[in-house]
Amino acid sequence: MTQSIGIDLLSFYIPQYYLDLGVLAERNNIDVNKFHRGIGQEQMAIPPHDEDIVTLAANAAYPIVEQYGRDNIDTVLFATETGIDQSKAAAIYVHKLLDLPANCRAVELKQACYSATAAIQMALGYIARHPGKKVLVIASDISRYDLDSPAEATQGCGAVAMLIAENPRMIALDLATGTHTEDVMDFWRPNYRKTALVDGKFSTQMYLRALEHAWQDYQDNGGHAYSDFTHYCYHLPFSKMGIKAHQHLARINEQEVQESDTDAGMIYNRVIGNSYTASLYLSLISLLDNRDDLAGQPVALFSYGSGCVAEFFSGVVSDDYLEHRFRTRHQRLISEREALDYDTYLEYWHHPDPTDGSSVTNPTCNRGTFRLAGIDGHKRQYTRCC
Ligand code: HMG
Repeated sequence: MTQSIGIDLLSFYIPQYYLDLGVLAERNNIDVNKFHRGIGQEQMAIPPHDEDIVTLAANAAYPIVEQYGRDNIDTVLFATETGIDQSKAAAIYVHKLLDLPANCRAVELKQACYSATAAIQMALGYIARHPGKKVLVIASDISRYDLDSPAEATQGCGAVAMLIAENPRMIALDLATGTHTEDVMDFWRPNYRKTALVDGKFSTQMYLRALEHAWQDYQDNGGHAYSDFTHYCYHLPFSKMGIKAHQHLARINEQEVQESDTDAGMIYNRVIGNSYTASLYLSLISLLDNRDDLAGQPVALFSYGSGCVAEFFSGVVSDDYLEHRFRTRHQRLISEREALDYDTYLEYWHHPDPTDGSSVTNPTCNRGTFRLAGIDGHKRQYTRCC
């Protein structure tokens, strides 16, 4: 019998604050329908001063380790493009906050929005060699573009934590995958910049081109046919991108698009925005939380990271996935948020990370278990709140 490995558990975390895109539309004198219908977005998650990729990540993973324990987790892979240090892995802070044992390795991975998928592929290979072990993969990012740029409305943030293990309780991942790598400058962020540089229209074309190539490679490697899937999850920089991607894939395969192919997988992303590495997996959680009829169903997954690397892969939803969702928690995280006014959004956006070693003490805004209390002497100080 083939070994079944995949995503055993998955949980997300977002900050307590969001900006309604109606506020941005009014401030910039833009018809709000451009955001609601044109790019398919309603709100974007905004981190307060005491939230960063580490607190988002630790808060995402906490329910998994609290509810299911830490046994056999011997690796933490932290995927991000919002790095806080050129040398030390953000995974080490999370390892400490989650109280993981010293014989558990901790590493950070980068390739734009794609690296969580690379982390999962590495984890699958590792577990095949070490059956019984578990790998904690965390995708955590804060998407930030220049103010008053066309990309501003496609910001957002969030983290998804996934336990990769044998006989997974959520989704078993198939062996066949299709990848595409190509050196392009569609989106990048040099080390000296806080915001990304992007060639917006070109990036959307590259996304579709990479999808086509990755799909072809997936087919060449023995993947499922288009008509085998009832649900598709895409990397969602904005939800309209996923709709366009799905139309493109259907056209290539001479098929009709059904709205139900993608709609459940977009519910959360529409009100959270682009969470970069976490975005595809947030879409997967959105699908699993919002459909109760997925047991045994094959689901298609498309990961895209600018620059670019893309991967088309798939999995089969486990029979007892309904019992292991964190759905109530996820829905509460979204419904119990506070809307920001434009000035507070700007204040959070501008909050600096000191570059000269000076100290900052952050006000308590974060509602999670872990917060960034401050920075002192170039060292980030994380605390546990409760
Ligand atoms: P823009 O120039 O503001 O948008 O930039 P636009 O003028 O093209 O309008 C967008 C859509 O709204 C258009 O529809 C308009 O017609 C429509 P489309 O032609 O595309 O179907 N529209 C309206 N609809 C209804 N009512 C109205 C109205 N007005 C206009 N009144 C862009 C849009 C996405 C380029 C910009 O926001 C941007 O640069 N975003 C960042 C880049 C991005 O998200 N790229 C996605 C692909 S790359 C990727 O996914 C990787 C990434 O996640 C990073 C990583 O990998 O690390 C970004």
